[in-house]
Amino acid sequence: MHQREHWSTQIGFIMAAAGSAIGLGSLWRFPYTVGENGGAAFVLLYALFTFFLGLPVFISELVIGRQTQKSAVFAYQSLSKEGSNWKMLGYLNILSCFIILAFYSVVSGWCLSYTLMSLTQFTKGKTPDEIRQVFSILASSPGINLFWLFLFLGLNVGVVFSGVKKGIEHWSKILMPVLLVLLLVLFGYSLTLEGFSKAFSFIMLPDFSKLTPSAILNALGMAFFTLSVGLGIILTYGSYMGPQEDIPRTSFIVALMTFIVSMIAALMIFPIVFTFGFAPEGGPGLVFQTLPILFSKLPGEIILSTVFFALLFFTAITSSISLLEMLVANFMEIFSWSRQKATIITASITFLIGIPCALSSSGALFPNWKAIYGMDFFDTMNYITSSWMMPISGLFTTLFVGWKMERSLFDSELIKGTKWRYLLKPIFFSVKWLAPISVLFIILEQSGLIKFH
Ligand code: PHE
Repeated sequence: MHQREHWSTQIGFIMAAAGSAIGLGSLWRFPYTVGENGGAAFVLLYALFTFFLGLPVFISELVIGRQTQKSAVFAYQSLSKEGSNWKMLGYLNILSCFIILAFYSVVSGWCLSYTLMSLTQFTKGKTPDEIRQVFSILASSPGINLFWLFLFLGLNVGVVFSGVKKGIEHWSKILMPVLLVLLLVLFGYSLTLEGFSKAFSFIMLPDFSKLTPSAILNALGMAFFTLSVGLGIILTYGSYMGPQEDIPRTSFIVALMTFIVSMIAALMIFPIVFTFGFAPEGGPGLVFQTLPILFSKLPGEIILSTVFFALLFFTAITSSISLLEMLVANFMEIFSWSRQKATIITASITFLIGIPCALSSSGALFPNWKAIYGMDFFDTMNYITSSWMMPISGLFTTLFVGWKMERSLFDSELIKGTKWRYLLKPIFFSVKWLAPISVLFIILEQSGLIKFH
């Protein structure tokens, strides 16, 4: 059997994991979800859930991955008894990854489209309202969405073909730092807008009366989504880790970076929203509708806008390749396929699931979906994966590590390569008790099975 590929350096791993975590979740999904869920109280929950619930799941996945050196399905299988059902968790992860990759690719397609549009100076001579309209036109154009979806998935195939070190690690190391710098520059611009102070209080000063019960589940889903946990992806990335790497430290760094980027994204977007008097609950179009307005007021619009959307696309790709890599790694193991074959087949299946997502706003397919389910197809997939499938599978991941796997395996994985040994007990406590109980509680409350208010 051939040797499993490993990350070449610890920084390479951090960049790849941060590359998976930081993406459209922080930059596109977080700001509009904050807007829809009333602001600061939601942000506070998101922070708590990221560090107290998401992080334990992240660590659990790394432990399982590095311990078994396998991808989700086989990893669960090899750590449990023959004939046990734990490998179903791996299959649930695969299903979620397919769905997320499908709609994620549609959004990434919008990023590509905005990059090209920026080059053609699409905001020229338009009022802020007209600039906002452009998004609705794009979202409801079936052919254009399909075209970008196809192209984006093709690019993913290109990266994943080259494997872990040359593909994923290489690109993440280049793209992540550039993104961080550009974000800070844009954040600096937003600081100077008159709406900044209003945005700051909207995001930082919690008003708990605005917190609806569903906001709690949404915040949990958001924390899991931005950390990429509850999908077996971090598990797969953990399986490419060598024994010398420090699991607690790297996990904490990734969670912190992700949290900071989400906050910067919100603090960059809401000043524009308030300065121009838009409603904060702008929905999935928020980033695409607000930033071009800011750009159109700034010198060097073409460059700024093109670079920004190109970077948005790059962060999207460092995340989407992690979704595709998870699928590819599992398919390679389950069917003993070559990397190339697994990549082509999983990307093709994703394309098929992506079609209804891409056509969702135009109503070209399933025109009555929204009337029946209350959300269009795209929003439905976005919602069920992050608010239900990821928390449920995160719950089972922690149950697996806390209750099923041998404690000594957990301890030895966690202690390898770390100086933070004193964290072993608190981390195990959160994996065994805190995370599963809280997540279970939130899920049951939301599903209406228990009522506490
Ligand atoms: N965490 C990524 C982001 O925030 C999205 C993602 C979700 C990637 C799930 C992989 C898995 O954009």
